[in-house]
Amino acid sequence: MEQAVDSGASVLSDALAGSFLIGALRVFWLLSTTLVVLGVLPFGFYQRFLRKSAGRGKLRVVEKVDPGAKKGPLARLWDVTVPQDYFSHFYLVGFMSTLGLIHHTFYPENFRFWPSPSDTPQPKKPHPFAEGFEHAESIFLLALMLVHTARRLCESTMLEKHAPGSRMHIASYVYGLCYYVAAPLTLYVHRSKKVKTVWGLFSWHEVLGGLLFIFANIKQHQLGQILAGLRHRSGPFDKIPVYRIPRGDWFEWVACPHYLAEILLYLGLVVVSEGKDLTIWLMFSWVVANLTYAAQLARRWYVTKFEDYPKERKAIVPLLF
Ligand SMILES: NC(=O)c1ccc[n+]([C@@H]2O[C@H](COP(=O)([O-])OP(=O)(O)OC[C@H]3O[C@@H](n4cnc5c(N)ncnc54)[C@H](OP(=O)(O)O)[C@@H]3O)[C@@H](O)[C@H]2O)c1
Repeated sequence: MEQAVDSGASVLSDALAGSFLIGALRVFWLLSTTLVVLGVLPFGFYQRFLRKSAGRGKLRVVEKVDPGAKKGPLARLWDVTVPQDYFSHFYLVGFMSTLGLIHHTFYPENFRFWPSPSDTPQPKKPHPFAEGFEHAESIFLLALMLVHTARRLCESTMLEKHAPGSRMHIASYVYGLCYYVAAPLTLYVHRSKKVKTVWGLFSWHEVLGGLLFIFANIKQHQLGQILAGLRHRSGPFDKIPVYRIPRGDWFEWVACPHYLAEILLYLGLVVVSEGKDLTIWLMFSWVVANLTYAAQLARRWYVTKFEDYPKERKAIVPLLF
């Protein structure tokens, strides 16, 4: 009897911890998206704040410094930037968090979000891939994220060539680190009951979403190769122009097709979840808002920087935007 009460209390505390985590993630995604969407409002001060904190690489805002001006500690902190190479830290954090969460799904007893009321043995779990096991889709989503972060980790350390002095704002760096903990957590808290399965393993929406995810990853890798190729010309690296107009593939249609591919791969995750998980939708909304904002800044930058830039190229959605 006592054991049953303890076990019931443990289940309740886990449920409370789960609800708290889901609530916190939803607030995080909503706040993040709102901060970017507010940038379309005509508030010059806020637009400058957003551009400075979000700008990286070619879009970084470099302010003229008055050598005589004295700055307080907060203002000096606001000027801190880190090398653009630190982008790889995001994927390392994303990979490690995803791996840790997959492990936790299999062995939850190793770490509890909420202290267990006693050492009562937990009821035996079903096999992770047993029919109706509500964590199976979460494991699949996390596995996709693992592939994505591993791929991006390799690319950002071995393929990407940043311009000398390419940097990002400290706010972007800190946010990016939080993002790559929040995104795997969002997939980790996903729950579903399988109904129809393909080969007894996957639902149709999981197969479709998974294929879209893989296609978008391959496409993004090809587009990344084109960008890296712009800096792989013969001759000394510092003799070639730092930035060029990317050409070929989806670059003929939009300025930032690699951002479009990123949106498609997150759409793949929404499809895997059958569009039934609000937290995954909110994460997707943030990715769309953030990358659409960055793409329109990039397009504007290309148009002002290169006279021969094809003006008909849209920012991120072919023919539309
Ligand atoms: N999930 C999300 O919310 C999210 C958010 C942001 C980014 N991302 C992803 O992270 C990846 C990198 O993003 P990013 O914003 O750093 O992309 P980016 O600014 O387009 O830069 C990507 C790489 O290409 C170089 N590059 C860009 N334009 C170039 C040009 N015209 N000529 C020569 N080289 C050029 C950059 O060099 P420099 O560093 O020297 O500029 C950098 O090495 C993308 O695949 C994006 O989808 C995802």
